[in-house]
Amino acid sequence: MTPITIAIDGFSSTGKSTLAKQLAKYLGYVYVDTGAMYRAVTLFAMQNGLVSETHLDQLGLIKNLPSIKLHFVYNSALGFAEMFLNNVNVENEIRTIDVSRLVSKIAEISEVRSKLVEQQQQMGLKKAIVMDGRDIGTVVFPDAELKLFMTASPHTRAMRRYDELIEKGQKVTYEEVLQNVQERDYIDTHREDSPLVKATDAIEIDNSTLTKEEQFALVLDLIDKFYN
Ligand code: DC
Repeated sequence: MTPITIAIDGFSSTGKSTLAKQLAKYLGYVYVDTGAMYRAVTLFAMQNGLVSETHLDQLGLIKNLPSIKLHFVYNSALGFAEMFLNNVNVENEIRTIDVSRLVSKIAEISEVRSKLVEQQQQMGLKKAIVMDGRDIGTVVFPDAELKLFMTASPHTRAMRRYDELIEKGQKVTYEEVLQNVQERDYIDTHREDSPLVKATDAIEIDNSTLTKEEQFALVLDLIDKFYN
């Protein structure tokens, strides 16, 4: 089968990464989680005192962009690639609620976006890639052969994220997580540069009432149709 590019966009906690990992494994494709890249830049900014709940040193961050090196390393035990920031594995650190609270501010900065988009486009040159994010089907790979746009109700999404965080031992309340999901939805859809929008040729999947298996079967069906 000729390799294709699969772009998966949508709101936070809509199960994009679960679906992307299932597809990558099934098709033998590379999976790239672009949210991890924005999270790693946010972690860098936090570590260097460039961002907090009350301030953002945008110029300072832009000046430091050349010293931010991001790469993924595949972990066969986990079955996906982990995020490295300047050669340090930050896969766990980037998933905390503290990073989630600040990441949308960082993802609004055009200079950050162009640096990451360029790196993402390089990773997709050979196709055979599943990439998830907010602007993959609109900006990163506007010519992707298959574009999916995932949605689910805010309650379903907050509940999923809450369960994940509790499982990882983090101390959060459901209300905090729901508020974070809603705030990020607002910022992601209202920012000036590359806001989250459904590409006109994307297929929308509302998975509020779908199991992971049902959703995967539905998407495999779409891929079959693509090839037939
Ligand atoms: O997918 P995620 O929740 O881990 O993404 C974290 C944040 O990064 C999200 O709130 C918006 C931003 N993001 C983005 O602006 N563009 C992308 N392609 C991926 C993520």
